[in-house]
Amino acid sequence: MPNALPFNRLETNSDTWVTLYIEDQAIQVPAGDTVAAAILSAGLLPSRTTSISSSQRAPYCLMGVCFECLVTIDGKENSQACMTQVQDGMRVSKQIQSPDLNAADTREAKHDK
Ligand code: FES
Repeated sequence: MPNALPFNRLETNSDTWVTLYIEDQAIQVPAGDTVAAAILSAGLLPSRTTSISSSQRAPYCLMGVCFECLVTIDGKENSQACMTQVQDGMRVSKQIQSPDLNAADTREAKHDK
């Protein structure tokens, strides 16, 4: 599996691995890992984009402070990936903002001039 970032998993003592799906891609991770660790180790970035400028974001602080790790987990939007432990069969979607949303903002901005 390609890993574009220098995040390599250390040895794990976990005997239990689970399968979660990130953008429908099956990922095997040790039980007890967070969703953010799974995203980073799989190199599936960006994990979200901002709503205004569509800037790319990824998990950063890994302790629930920065909110850069927001994803959709089992249908629940704006879930903090760094504060959520993986569960077998969990489904994770990136929060990539719709270009249409940004287009609407642009139209409004032009209309206001
Ligand atoms: S990585 Fe900062 S809040 Fe999750």
